[in-house]
Amino acid sequence: MKSAFYITTPIYYVNGAPHIGHAYTSIATDTLARFKRMDGHDVFFLTGTDEHGQKVEQAAAAAGLTPQAFADKVSADFQDMTQAMGVSNDDWIRTTEERHKQSCQELWRRIAASGNIYLGHYEGWYAVRDEAFYDESELTTAPDGKKTAPSGAPVEWVREPSYFFRLSAWQDKLLELYENNPDFIAPTSRRNEVLSFVKGGLHDLSVSRTTFNWGIPVPGAPGHVMYVWLDALTNYITACGFPDEDAARWRFWPADAHVVGKDIIRFHAVYWPAFLMAAGIPVPKRISSHGWWVVEGEKMSKSLGNVIEPRKLVETYGLDQIRYFLLREKPFGADGSMSHPAIVSRINVELANDLGNLAQRSLSLIARNLGGVLPARGALTEDDLGLLNAANGLPDAVRACMDRQTFHEALEEIWKVIRAANGYIDRQAPWALNKTDKVRMGEVLRVLVDTIRAVATMLQPFMPASMANMLEQLGVPEHARDIAALSAPLADGIHLPAPRGVFPRYVEPAA
Ligand code: MSP
Repeated sequence: MKSAFYITTPIYYVNGAPHIGHAYTSIATDTLARFKRMDGHDVFFLTGTDEHGQKVEQAAAAAGLTPQAFADKVSADFQDMTQAMGVSNDDWIRTTEERHKQSCQELWRRIAASGNIYLGHYEGWYAVRDEAFYDESELTTAPDGKKTAPSGAPVEWVREPSYFFRLSAWQDKLLELYENNPDFIAPTSRRNEVLSFVKGGLHDLSVSRTTFNWGIPVPGAPGHVMYVWLDALTNYITACGFPDEDAARWRFWPADAHVVGKDIIRFHAVYWPAFLMAAGIPVPKRISSHGWWVVEGEKMSKSLGNVIEPRKLVETYGLDQIRYFLLREKPFGADGSMSHPAIVSRINVELANDLGNLAQRSLSLIARNLGGVLPARGALTEDDLGLLNAANGLPDAVRACMDRQTFHEALEEIWKVIRAANGYIDRQAPWALNKTDKVRMGEVLRVLVDTIRAVATMLQPFMPASMANMLEQLGVPEHARDIAALSAPLADGIHLPAPRGVFPRYVEPAA
């Protein structure tokens, strides 16, 4: 039986159009989902939209639409963006769906039944943009007296009756969770942040709102809607069929990884496990957080007019080129800056030159000099063995990186082999062997084909369409493109299709 692997993206707020930050989270998660499928797991990959709360209600009002009509429109746009990014999600969840309402209300009942919810009065700071409550001590006060949250979001003073979750009672249990599961929060810098936040002491959390009604009604408490983060986080179990533990998908819970941006780690690593523990539900295995993208060194913002539309980027550079760039350019956990020259350089140097040319050179020698017939291996020289061993080591090396979500390191492992193959082809010079030793030329080309096959197989999760194209040219049938299939060699003597370039160079359009 294949082992279950459940992975999620955050669900996206439908208050505005999708941008590259959203696409990034989804592409990274997709890459891991595709890797796990190719590595023999039974994967459930969830994404969707977060549609309740004050922020969405305000955006809908500004657009002159009802919150539901507005959410329908923006959610459809996010779904379109998700497809355009080549994301292979297995379900699309919307928090306005009936299944989700049932799930949230049941979770609430269970938390309440355990004595972890009480009625009180909230008075304090709230940032609508973050949909988060802040302590006075966390805020910055500008010379004009305006207060802002650590995220830069403006805050307002809120005073309303509210239900509270006894978060303070879960401090020790949370610390125990982090202690016993050192990999629960990644990377370590974020883990340390969360640890010191929790060690600093936890206040009870306001989990219902009464001053607006765009949310899930609190069961048995007219006038109260659930705090949007309690509602939103619950999506991860809704999609597994909660509260129906006999549902086919319940086997996927607890999630293997929630992939999130660094800005929302506190909600996932503190509030979410506390809610679940209070309700007696197992907690997720890992919260993996990534850094933020800025554009040419500047934070993206509507007022600067530098917000990047992912579909535009894909139109300009190509989908796999963008997927590759996003996961290669910066370490996953760190912040990074994107710019036109940086993208062009990754495309022209690494994709077109290092990888594209390697495949094209090897395959056109087979097409031109061997009638397109795949040659057999010969007695392996030390140089052959060196390259083949590096290629054979790829699955383990890449798996180790993917399990830590260090995508850039996985790509570096693959590129080490690509660079080694380029060194090998230059040393062996099969084009020269064509005149002097045709048999050896075939043997060299076969070592190259086997190496490129391993490379292209491991790159599929990152660049699915281009690698399908490359594997096709290498004569690898569709059923032999997963990791397990790498141990079965291609049959000698098969006919390869005519080679064609996979990665065109990016050329600046004429001004
Ligand atoms: N709705 C909440 C998540 C609820 S999950 C139960 C939310 N939505 S969001 O649309 O604001 O953000 C979703 C994701 O996009 C977050 O992981 C966030 O980190 C990511 N990004 C938003 N801007 C980003 C960049 N500029 N760069 C990288 N990712 C960023 O938060």
